Amino acid sequence: MRSFLLFLHLAGVIIWVGGMFFAHFCLRPVAAEQLPPAQRLPLLSAVLGRFFVAVALAVAVILASGFASLKLTGFALAPLHWHAMSGLGLLMAGIFAVIYFRLYPRLRAGVAEADWPAAGAAMNRIRLLVATNLLLGGLTLAVATLGAYLVP
Ligand code: HEM
Repeated sequence: MRSFLLFLHLAGVIIWVGGMFFAHFCLRPVAAEQLPPAQRLPLLSAVLGRFFVAVALAVAVILASGFASLKLTGFALAPLHWHAMSGLGLLMAGIFAVIYFRLYPRLRAGVAEADWPAAGAAMNRIRLLVATNLLLGGLTLAVATLGAYLVP
């Protein structure tokens, strides 16, 4: 059971953090370099729409499998770095909720109305929050895997 939960947990983490890495470092810079706003913003909005559905699912799986395995061990007995991972994971999920429920609808509305300044502003805030979550994701990975050595 524990291994199955860990499998689900890590599958979710790979999709979320790997997807953010690809979007931030590969897709967006090339789209910004090669396409004008009227082409770039509809493309990014459509790509992010698909990615965010996968992330919403991944976040649900990560939180459910993470808390289920914490419960198996017992919250009081769990090592400190597991609690740190949970805190960081909840923070990342909160940031994703802001992106998905507040900023992404603005990007979609801007694209639908061909209002490029509004769509561009929403996209810029999404980019900053995705970069923040990418940093936090890297930190959470370090805490999860190296935490036992860092905090004896
Ligand atoms: C609220 C959110 C989270 C909770 C409650 C949670 C809980 C846990 C627990 C209990 C384990 C140990 C499972 C076991 O060994 O059986 C674990 C493993 C792990 N988690 Fe999380 N986690 C959360 C979010 C995250 C996030 C966001 C990441 C990465 C970005 C992450 C990365 C990992 C990794 C890499 C492991 C494997 C560590 C190892 O086996 O050495 N977790 N998580």
